[in-house]
Amino acid sequence: MKPIWHYPAFIAHRGAGKFAPENTLAAFKLGYAHGYRMFECDVKLSADGVAYLLHDATLERTTSGAGSAANWAWCGLAQLDAGAWHSAAYAGEPIPTLRNIAAFVRANDCLLNIEIKPIPGTEEYTGEVIANLAAQLWADAAVPPLLSSFSEAALAAAQRTQPALPRALLVDSIPLDYLEKLKRLGCSALVAQVAHLHDAQVVAVKSAGYALLCYTCNCPERAAQLRALGVNGIITDALDTIKPLS
Ligand code: G3P
Ligand code: MG
Repeated sequence: MKPIWHYPAFIAHRGAGKFAPENTLAAFKLGYAHGYRMFECDVKLSADGVAYLLHDATLERTTSGAGSAANWAWCGLAQLDAGAWHSAAYAGEPIPTLRNIAAFVRANDCLLNIEIKPIPGTEEYTGEVIANLAAQLWADAAVPPLLSSFSEAALAAAQRTQPALPRALLVDSIPLDYLEKLKRLGCSALVAQVAHLHDAQVVAVKSAGYALLCYTCNCPERAAQLRALGVNGIITDALDTIKPLS
């Protein structure tokens, strides 16, 4: 069965790439202002089970907090500054919850790729909670969010919990057994690292009936080549040079 691709061809990585603090509402607003209507973001759970946006397993790089994100409950995370590290203009920008981002995305007729980024050791629980929350937040939406993860355990948990939500397997290099993994996890798409993606692999994945996305493609010429070969989605930081035409 061929997947039906309901999503735009260009997806702003972490909201707005490097032009605003990653995984903040300010980034999403900037991505929107650049014409993007689909966004990728990294979502994990606080120690008390709140789904929020953060890439790293630790807080230092992108927030005013410190240490392992696993140790923080939402009441502490909510006080942190997630913008000052980027530039003074964004000082005071808070960490958003998935609920905050869903409100923005839905109010502005945008679509979302939720990358489930579990704290190590919490893969199944994180997959379950995020899938349930996504199903609730997009219950009446025409197009649901795309759930993706490097964690097969998180994807399997999402599949068990909310089988109707579309899923994508994230990989660095495409493994030899990717078709078996996609089938087992009920994924409709593969998301591959652009630096390791060869044209023949694009043809093979597409011929097998799966959607194919790549990250993080910041070269407009390569993006155009990949689109011409049939890549469905280009996840990019390059908001200034890659224009979202569709
Ligand atoms: O979801 C695509 C991409 O975001 C995966 O890598 O490290 O940027 O989350 P990373
Ligand atoms: Mg990501």
